[in-house]
Amino acid sequence: MRVEDPKLKAELSDLGVDIRSGACMAELTSLGIGGTTNLLRITKHESIPELILLLERHQIPYKFLGGGSNLLVGDGELPWLILQLAKPDQEIVIEGHLAHVDAAADLGRTVTFCAKHDLGGMEGLIGVPGTIGGALRMNAGAYGMQIGSYVREVKLYRAAKRSIEILRGTQISFEYRHTSFAPDDMMLAVTLELPSKPFKEILQGIRICNEKRRSSQPLGQKSAGCIFKNPPGASAGRMIDELGLKGLSVGDAKVSDRHANFFVNAGEASARDMLTLIANVRGRVENAFGVKLEHEVVVWDA
Ligand code: EPU
Repeated sequence: MRVEDPKLKAELSDLGVDIRSGACMAELTSLGIGGTTNLLRITKHESIPELILLLERHQIPYKFLGGGSNLLVGDGELPWLILQLAKPDQEIVIEGHLAHVDAAADLGRTVTFCAKHDLGGMEGLIGVPGTIGGALRMNAGAYGMQIGSYVREVKLYRAAKRSIEILRGTQISFEYRHTSFAPDDMMLAVTLELPSKPFKEILQGIRICNEKRRSSQPLGQKSAGCIFKNPPGASAGRMIDELGLKGLSVGDAKVSDRHANFFVNAGEASARDMLTLIANVRGRVENAFGVKLEHEVVVWDA
């Protein structure tokens, strides 16, 4: 999808939106898969309602991208524009037990920044790639914690109301890899309320989580983290492993040899390859265990 109309381009520019044409989603996602489109970088949160109205008036479909680390995007020329928040100069402000964080901030950097201010709780998320906004929308979690537990307030663009709003943490439901935000709501900023802990203690927790992750997940390879959610009381990774599917591949899309719920792009995998592999593994798990695995990865197929 291209923005060609000079008048529209000028209007976008007036809203503080930078247009990057020919953006390649393979370069903007951790899986390294995805076709091309125009990328609109938003520099002012306040301009979002007007931006959405403008795109709708021109009947231009769009999708909102976070850090691209839990995402499988389709191949070829994509039929929608991508919107993404530009990183602000100051991503995190600490105020006592509160961390005010821009949605575009890097998740790992936020964990360590808070740690340096003796604020803990988020150690489990170290090593999870992506932005705070993405982690919030998916209620990212690991090693017994989830980000939702620490959310005091969220600033978001609420698609249904076409306006920017502040929600209290108690107004949002955070479940396993799921939140009550609507699919087209856009996370803009969050205030986390974190427990005090000495930096050294947090650092120790961070080291332990890093070590666990390094020993069980294919960190150096292109992936989108776990492909499937764990069904209640079971582990998708263990089921896939038990079926002997580690190493199974379609083109360059491959079930990781290290963790069977991570599917890696071992070279030039296409979205088609990856989707075929996902469907294949899902079918085999259903046949063997009678369990229909649900995607954990978000799929934007063209
Ligand atoms: N297992 C196997 N073979 C494998 C992978 C796992 O037998 O190939 C076994 C493990 O030995 C373990 C059990 O399955 O007994 C669970 O494995 P693991 O501890 O690695 O956790 P997981 O359930 O596979 C979940 C999250 C991860 C998160 C880790 C650590 C989901 C879908 N996955 O993985 O999150 O990092 O726990 O807390 O909830 C993600 O969200 O993308 C993600 C990677």
